[in-house]
Amino acid sequence: MSADLDLFSYSDPEKQDFSTISPKDLSREQAVHELERLAKLIRHYDHLYHDKDNPAVPDSEYDALVLRNRRIEQFFPELIRPDSPSTKVGSRPNSRLPKIAHRMAMLSLDNGFSDQDVEYFLGRVRRFFKLGETQAVICTVEPKIDGLSCSLRYEKGVLTQAVTRGDGVIGEDVTPNVRVIEDIPKALSGSGWPDIIEIRGEVYMAKSDFAALNARQTEENKKVFANPRNAAAGSLRQLDPNITARRSLRFLAHGWGDVSSLPADTQYGMMKAIESYGLSVSSLLARAENIDQILKLYNDIEASRADMDFDIDGVVYKLDQLDWQKRLGFSARAPRFALAHKFPAEKAQTTLIEIDIQVGRTGVLTPVAKLEPVTVGGVVVSSATLHNADEIDRLAVRPGDRVLVQRAGDVIPQIVENLTIDVDRPAWHFPHHCPVCGSLAKREENEVAWRCTGGLICPAQRVERLCHFVSRTAFEIDGLGRTHIESFFSDGLIETPADIFRLSQKRSLLIGREGWGELSVDNLLSAIETRRKIPFDRFLYALGIRHVGTVTARDLAKCYQTWENFRAALDEVASLRGVLQPSIGETADKYQKRVDKEIVSFIHIPNIGAKIIHSLIDFFAEKHNDEVVSDLLRELQIEPLYFELSSSPLSGQIIVFTGSLQKITRDEAKKQAENLGAKVASSVSRKTNLVVAGEAAGSKLSKAESLGIMIIDEERWHEIVKNEGLDSIKI
Ligand code: IVH
Repeated sequence: MSADLDLFSYSDPEKQDFSTISPKDLSREQAVHELERLAKLIRHYDHLYHDKDNPAVPDSEYDALVLRNRRIEQFFPELIRPDSPSTKVGSRPNSRLPKIAHRMAMLSLDNGFSDQDVEYFLGRVRRFFKLGETQAVICTVEPKIDGLSCSLRYEKGVLTQAVTRGDGVIGEDVTPNVRVIEDIPKALSGSGWPDIIEIRGEVYMAKSDFAALNARQTEENKKVFANPRNAAAGSLRQLDPNITARRSLRFLAHGWGDVSSLPADTQYGMMKAIESYGLSVSSLLARAENIDQILKLYNDIEASRADMDFDIDGVVYKLDQLDWQKRLGFSARAPRFALAHKFPAEKAQTTLIEIDIQVGRTGVLTPVAKLEPVTVGGVVVSSATLHNADEIDRLAVRPGDRVLVQRAGDVIPQIVENLTIDVDRPAWHFPHHCPVCGSLAKREENEVAWRCTGGLICPAQRVERLCHFVSRTAFEIDGLGRTHIESFFSDGLIETPADIFRLSQKRSLLIGREGWGELSVDNLLSAIETRRKIPFDRFLYALGIRHVGTVTARDLAKCYQTWENFRAALDEVASLRGVLQPSIGETADKYQKRVDKEIVSFIHIPNIGAKIIHSLIDFFAEKHNDEVVSDLLRELQIEPLYFELSSSPLSGQIIVFTGSLQKITRDEAKKQAENLGAKVASSVSRKTNLVVAGEAAGSKLSKAESLGIMIIDEERWHEIVKNEGLDSIKI
């Protein structure tokens, strides 16, 4: 746990600072950092969860990250990253099991954490279908099992294939393994099953079987599993089905995938049919007509959670009517007709041992609480973030205090309450000097963070910059992680980024080091060699310039294409800034605003504001930085950025719907357009690319005609949607 914390949460306190800011209060630049941090962290957790069967954090914490990511994206849709976690289901399968592409994507579920989230879900359904107050929205309600999802294909009633979810598109073939699971019939029983049906559900391990398995593993001196889910995943994803057979796995169905005909027209009816074919379906599956009934069932299920012999982490609601499910459809990641209502995060009390200060890449000092280890939600926690000096003041925490720790909300465990405030112990004061280099720490105006002013004389900052340079979103040098950077730096093998590319000259020195042999050194050196050509945006991002995250680096690289163009433009804007003088009588504030305006209009790239431009100018004005870059340019070749082609012809187009649509609601049409990457506007202008005219279209239609904009009718729109494959996800 602590290794993960060090690596992912505290290594760059610059960004971590924003994790306490509510999505709606984030500035654009902070949002960019947050989305980047969340994408990185979620990817890492996905990897541990899916590939290693070894989650670093409990689901509640993971879910909170995904939720935060989604909320930020809702506020800043233009910042959605190409690698956004909201478009991904899980990570690609990585075991040696054969891979199989799902015929129908195996998606995830959107999460809700409060009664309001459920209300919002139902409200959205009501608005989408324009339902009246009294019209019922019937949902099925069932537990969310904490297992491993699997799709079982039956052809003419015979089990032919079983595939894990994987990344939702490609999963692992576990057919021989599921054949040894008692709950999974090799042939369907009952009658009336469709010729082809993929039954989807969770493979899980009962708590009692898990305890027995771990006892056996301990006895045999073998690895014990962290929780039943890991044990289930590890047991199913075996090359040898004999191992699976010894592990007592179970299966509970909760849905279906590819199906040749539907035996029912409701979710409930479908699940009852699947049960009649011989598969287990939750005995708690029920139907509810309104929010009160839904929440009552949620509370009942939560109350019986401890008595169940398997882990559940929430309750799942699905619209009962299949035609409604179809009309609501799917987002890239999850069905819009379902919601997982998760159980709240768990809390525990422990003692704060001491407060550590970590120094980030640009000198931000981040306080970290070292805790007496405590189990929260099944995971041992030994440190928690304290974010900044204000947070320490708010909590009034001091070493020795009892504190309440929560594992949810943001990235890492948090201290939510100090339970020892009345004890007479001196307050803990935030240090005014850097704990690593001793330089003065300063707090800039309007900033919460204290920063070490040591700059490049501060070894901590230099190490952090090097770590950032080799990190996954920057140079991504395989085999050169934090521990190597730290030890190479302390032994003087690497001092600046360019030294990394000169490591080959020190090959013999490296081979002699502890933990390094000829093979591992040569692997590292060849990983470094592959990075001598680096895309422009990665290079720029790797420099670790304040306010220049991956999105900004990409925006700049897209616009200038080559490093030379970019540097020339930056030099020009730097001289412009240099010559602008305050006029007589102009206040400092007004002068600053004028400078900002001038430089922004000079650069003129959407989303690149004054803060970023100042930061870029200041970075290159610093002699040392310029030297670092020139030194790197002697070792590297920066590749111009190539543009990606959008996949849908409607991608980026502006569409206006007008008149009344007969087959679908306006909301539905908007969703369809957005799914194809288009933007929907409410009025026609020169920027409009396409107008879809329903019946009795009026002034918008005439305006579109006068502007010569392409106009199509509703029928044609449906054809476009169909051809684009929106319907390709069957229900
Ligand atoms: S319905 C389109 N129902 O939770 C996906 N999923 O967090 C529909 N899960 O991938 C899934 N219990 O593996 C559904 N009662 C339940 C579930 C359930 C557990 C899993 C499922 C899904 C994951 C999403």
